[in-house]
Amino acid sequence: MSVDTRAGPTAEQPHSDALVVFGFSGDLAAKKIFPALYAMAKKGHLTVPVIGVASSKWGVDEWHGHVRDSLLHQDHEGGIDDPVAFDRLMALLNYVSGDYNEAATFTALKAALGDSKSPAFYLAIPPSLFATVIQSLGQTGLARDARVIVEKPFGRDLTSARELNAVAQAVFPESSIFRIDHYLGKEAIMNILYFRFANSFLEPVWNRHHIASVQVTLAEDFGVGARGAFYESAGCLRDVVENHLFQVIALLAMEPPVFQSFKAVHSAKASVLRAMLPLKPEDLVRGQYLGYRDEQGVASDSDVETFCALRLYIDSWRWAGVPWYLRAGKHLPRSVVEVQVQMQPPPQKLFDDSGPASGRANYFRFRLQPEAGIALAARIKRPGKEFVGVQRELYLGEDDPETMSTYERLLGDAMSGDGALFTDEDAVMAAWTVVDPVLAGHGVALPYQPGSWGPVAANALIAGDGGWHNPAVAVPPPMARTPP
Ligand code: BG6
Repeated sequence: MSVDTRAGPTAEQPHSDALVVFGFSGDLAAKKIFPALYAMAKKGHLTVPVIGVASSKWGVDEWHGHVRDSLLHQDHEGGIDDPVAFDRLMALLNYVSGDYNEAATFTALKAALGDSKSPAFYLAIPPSLFATVIQSLGQTGLARDARVIVEKPFGRDLTSARELNAVAQAVFPESSIFRIDHYLGKEAIMNILYFRFANSFLEPVWNRHHIASVQVTLAEDFGVGARGAFYESAGCLRDVVENHLFQVIALLAMEPPVFQSFKAVHSAKASVLRAMLPLKPEDLVRGQYLGYRDEQGVASDSDVETFCALRLYIDSWRWAGVPWYLRAGKHLPRSVVEVQVQMQPPPQKLFDDSGPASGRANYFRFRLQPEAGIALAARIKRPGKEFVGVQRELYLGEDDPETMSTYERLLGDAMSGDGALFTDEDAVMAAWTVVDPVLAGHGVALPYQPGSWGPVAANALIAGDGGWHNPAVAVPPPMARTPP
């Protein structure tokens, strides 16, 4: 089940012979897709034509300029450091301008695809357009032997997700539908699966007898920026919780897959999502940062949440009674994603500073972003006559940065027909089932100061379990060493 040995293209599953990106002028394309295409071109992994589709009526020079400018303005992706690869990418690019609601756009796309037999269509467009584009691909005869890669959120709620699923499956077979959750392509998140099942010391304690609670924080230190209009249709719960954070929980909570295959992993993860109890309004605190209503594309009386904190339960033999606390938001103090698994304290008070109700139990900490690492905190005695101690972390980390960006990995996988790192329909429907009750029935979004950890009401949710752990700026220096 190693990532490097996953099944490549086969005779029945040929590599896609063209990539069509809908939404080529959008924010996602500029920030994530162009760098991914450029990285693939640099490694020689991109050899098929790429057709960008967008409503902007630009000429080839303007499009080329847009791709170049976007790459040059990437903060973290290194700009354009290989002009030869960049030229190779430019030579592969072609563009179709048009309205997604008009048949002429798809006729033009068909012409641009020429003799391509098995293209991959990537929908980096607003979710409200997914069904229209998929249906038009079908009507134009473009779906035959093709793949479709759909961005999240897949639907707006359970009903619309079912409808979208029905539309997609009427046009494409399930094995040709790739539902993206880009968190699944991140090294640190793939490592949760590996860490849990490549080690044996964890399993005896990984259950309700030893784990008191689990917290997951996905914090971002910026606002919605130019994505106000999209955010108004989504909100934090749909944007990052029911997908990214639920996938993290599914990996942390799943049973061991019953055999060595990603199908078995998908099935074990979907079982976790199915066992989650549907949320109740009192399990959710919604917040909105002050200034959100002044953002471009945002209603002046918007009640859309830019923060949410929630408590949920997984009704299974392993997890019954263990609360899972999730928190995500924009304009929080720092950009960080971290999990803290809080262990039960020792059952007897043998030292003044440990034991039940001391609030000083061991924990596992999974740092998922910006660095990746796993820490186990344990108490050790301080030197001296007194039996008092201090909590220290055993820290496991890799110095090597990501070898591949998530979108590079996921686009490459989808084009070669490998669905391992995508979500399947069972997981998507189960996730919507959990959040559906609170999509409409919830309290108002409470205001919070940008740069704070959200509305204070979020603290009440977790007060009985020691309060929120606010992830630190950086993990401590690695303590772990490879054994000699
Ligand atoms: C996206 C959301 O899916 O994930 C964004 O739409 C969010 O709002 C982003 O900022 C976070 O992803 P990452 O990889 O930057 O943690």
